[in-house]
Formats: sequence, structure tokens, C-alpha cells
Amino acid sequence: MFHLFATGLMFLTGSCLTLASGVGVVTPLCPTTVDIAFKEAHHLHTKYYNYTNGRYNGGSVWTDANALETVHELMLLTKRTDFDGVADNSYIGRHALNTSTDWQAFTGGYIDDAGWVVLAIWTMADYKKFRGEDNVDTFLISAGQLYDKIAANWDDTCGGGVWWTTDHGYKNAITNELFLTLSARGYLRTGNQTYLENAKKTWAWLESSGMRGPSGLYNDGLVFGTCLNNNATTWTYNQGVIASGLAALAVATGNITLFQQAEITLDATIKYLTAPNKVLKESCDDPLPNGTVCDIDQQTFKGIWTKHLQYYLTSAANVLATAKYGPFLGLQSAAVLRYATNASLDIGSVWYAKNEGGSVYNVKSLPSGIAAHVAAAQYGPCL
Ligand SMILES: *[C@@H]1O[C@H](CO)[C@@H](O)[C@H](O)[C@H]1NC(C)=O
Ligand SMILES: *[C@@H]1O[C@H](CO)[C@@H](O)[C@H](O)[C@H]1NC(C)=O
Ligand SMILES: *[C@@H]1O[C@H](CO)[C@@H](O)[C@H](O)[C@H]1NC(C)=O
Ligand SMILES: *[C@@H]1O[C@H](CO)[C@@H](O)[C@H](O)[C@H]1NC(C)=O
Ligand SMILES: *[C@@H]1O[C@H](CO)[C@@H](O)[C@H](O)[C@H]1NC(C)=O
Ligand SMILES: *[C@@H]1O[C@H](CO)[C@@H](O)[C@H](O)[C@H]1NC(C)=O
Ligand SMILES: *[C@@H]1O[C@H](CO)[C@@H](O)[C@H](O)[C@H]1NC(C)=O
Repeated sequence: MFHLFATGLMFLTGSCLTLASGVGVVTPLCPTTVDIAFKEAHHLHTKYYNYTNGRYNGGSVWTDANALETVHELMLLTKRTDFDGVADNSYIGRHALNTSTDWQAFTGGYIDDAGWVVLAIWTMADYKKFRGEDNVDTFLISAGQLYDKIAANWDDTCGGGVWWTTDHGYKNAITNELFLTLSARGYLRTGNQTYLENAKKTWAWLESSGMRGPSGLYNDGLVFGTCLNNNATTWTYNQGVIASGLAALAVATGNITLFQQAEITLDATIKYLTAPNKVLKESCDDPLPNGTVCDIDQQTFKGIWTKHLQYYLTSAANVLATAKYGPFLGLQSAAVLRYATNASLDIGSVWYAKNEGGSVYNVKSLPSGIAAHVAAAQYGPCL
């Protein structure tokens, strides 16, 4: 089912790495999975999207950003226009259209939220470009301004890294993984050397930060003061965003070792953050009532992992990587459909087992499940 072709990606040749086959891969999209993704995306928009204020009712800045990114990624992949106009209508888009926007106020001082918003603005700008719409450059200028705000929160505390929030109390994995992926992808989009330098220094810092534990999984962050790994929860999304960032940096620099670095963490996710049926399981996921319940942020993490694995595979453009991870993505999408989706198309927070009262169904868990379908539509097997 894979179409093979020589990519001419020279950096992938002449090595004994498993990833270095020198063969790219373009998988045809899987029509049944595409249909499921659109059916769910329409449900998301019918049930939650509010054209008056451009928000998803009950959402938050960073989860809305992820939802908008996923929906526009789906349209770009399929060259469909189901949600035309949402990019400019969305409140993120409205702010992106205004180059005087106070991004600090918009993101409430959360540097990681700024990162998610940049990803959303880029994907919406790409969609607008594909449609030949106006103000693509305005979106990109705004994304650049927001990126600069993130970069300004880098300092030498703990040897480097950007802070989680503007009050500078915590250096953590997700904010720096996002800065890595934005910097590497920003360089690939623009050729701007500042982005490349930022990507290199961010990976160098992440690599030496001690935030990746012996299992290969990233913990949440560093202890203020001692700069030690705080050994806090290994959330799924932390294991995905690092991979998309490393893959983009590998493409930017030609250093294929970075793919291996990414796969250490991707493989550890599959090994340690899944239920026995190999479906992703957040540590707080529990299908039973009165068990642990993921909070309103955590309910969206697994979909981010699948989305960033999808980006990883696109950057890697490698048949062996797709063969290695594609079936796992297909399994996640199938589990979302079988266990997490209820009769009115809502998708719950627990993917690995049927809801027995503990799965939460809301505006955050729904786009997370959609992201699993979009990733599987591109890279999963088609049954
Ligand atoms: C949609 O947004 C408007 C403006 O903020 C608000 O008045 C309205 O209640 C929202 N609709 C729903 C269904 O929440
Ligand atoms: C653009 O943002 C600035 C800063 O928040 C604000 O003062 C101005 O009214 C906005 N312009 C528009 C057209 O919304
Ligand atoms: C490159 O990006 C940096 C950081 O955003 C910006 O300050 C600089 O103006 C950009 N350079 C060019 C040539 O666009
Ligand atoms: C985290 O675990 C490592 C390895 O067990 C240990 O060396 C380190 O001190 C721990 N960090 C904290 C903050 O306790
Ligand atoms: C490639 O990346 C690896 C992993 O970070 C690093 O150890 C190595 O020095 C890099 N190679 C070059 C030529 O930069
Ligand atoms: C679960 O929680 C509900 C509501 O708090 C309570 O009524 C019920 O008794 C609990 N069930 C068990 C098995 O603890
Ligand atoms: C599906 O979940 C949503 C959100 O909790 C709920 O409103 C709806 O009633 C559920 N549908 C069915 C058929 O249980």
C-alpha cells in the first residue's frame, strides 16, 4: 500500500542506521479514516464552535489552538474546504490579523500556550495560502512576533532554556520542546538563521538538562533552584513534541542521529505509556467511575502525541519509519472509534477501554481523538 520513490534526501543515504534507507514514502490517505476524521470534525464544529466569538465553547487558548491546527491540517491533507473561513473567524485568527495584538495578554503569560498558538497560526496560514486568501503574510508576521516573545524568555538559569511562564518560576519540558520544534520548523519555512541557531541551542540544552529519564521518557520539568529533573509525570505529549522538533532539526542540519534520539522517546512511549492492548494510556486515564481522572488539560495530551508523531513521519519521509509507527497510529484511531466514541459522536478522554463512567467527554477530549484519526488517515494502515 505504500508508494515508494527516491526522495533525493542526501542526508538519509550512506549510513547503517535503520532510518537511513534513502527511500521516502508517500502513503495515499485512507478514505475510511478521512471520513471518520471529517465526521468528527463536523461534530466538533456543530456542537462547540461559536462563530460569534470564534472560540470553542468551553475551550481554552491552548486547546483551541490545537483543535484549529488539527482541523486545518486535515483540510490541507485532503485539499478540502469544509471549514473555510474559520481561520479568519477564529479568535486566534482575529488576533493574528492584527499586528498590534498584545500577545502577552492573549496568552496570559504562558509561554507554552504561545507555542501552541504559533503552530495553529502557521497551519491556518498554510490553509489560507492554499485557498489564495488575503492576509497570509499578516498571519506569518503575527506568528513571528509571538515566536519572538517566546525567545525573549530564554535565560541562563539551569544552563539555558525558556521559562514556562513569564513570571519565571519553572523550566519544563513542553515549553522547550515546543521552542525546539518552532525554531527548527521556522528555519525550514523561512531560512532565517536565528531560528536554526535557536533550534540547535535548545536541543543542546534539552539533551544536557537531565529531563529525559533512564526509560527514555521526558519528565515534566526541573526543580527550581537545584535544576534537577523533578521526576514528575511523563505525560504523553512531552514524548511527541520532542520527536517532531528533532525530526525538523534533522532535516535542517542533515544530522540523522537526531532521528534516533527521537525514536528513543517514541519507542519508550509505546513501551511504557500504553495499556496491555498497546493503546495509549495517560497515567490519569481510568475508565471506571471514582478512579483517577485526567484534568481538563491532560485530556488532550494523547492526541498531541499522535499529531507530533505524524509530523515526525512527514519530516523523516522514510518508509521504514512509516512501517514502524504507522500500524501503531492505526491502532490508536481504531481504539478511539471502538472504545472512546459514543453514539452521538463525542469522544472521551479514555482510549484504551470502554467507558465505565470514568471517561470524560468534552471540548478537549474530542479534538484529541480527531488528531488520532488525522494521523492515522495519513500514516495508518487502511483496512
Ligand atoms: C457564543 O459567543 C457569544 C459571544 O461571546 C456568547 O454570547 C454566546 O453565549 C456563545 N454561545 C454559546 C452557545 O455559548
Ligand atoms: C489591535 O490590537 C490592539 C492592541 O490590543 C488594539 O488596541 C486594537 O484595537 C486592535 N485592532 C483591532 C482592529 O482590533
Ligand atoms: C530572523 O528572525 C529573527 C527572530 O524572529 C528576527 O528578529 C529577524 O529579523 C529575522 N531576520 C530576517 C532576515 O528576517
Ligand atoms: C529524580 O530521580 C533521580 C534518579 O533517581 C535522582 O537522582 C534525582 O535526585 C531525583 N530528583 C529529585 C528532585 O528528587
Ligand atoms: C548530531 O546530533 C547528535 C545528537 O544530539 C550530537 O551528539 C552530534 O554531535 C551531532 N552531530 C553534529 C555533526 O552536529
Ligand atoms: C462513586 O462516586 C459517587 C459520587 O461521588 C458515589 O455516589 C458512589 O458511591 C461512588 N462509588 C464507589 C464504588 O465508590
Ligand atoms: C455522548 O457524550 C456527550 C458528552 O458527554 C453526551 O452529551 C451525550 O449524551 C453522549 N451520547 C450518548 C448517546 O450517550
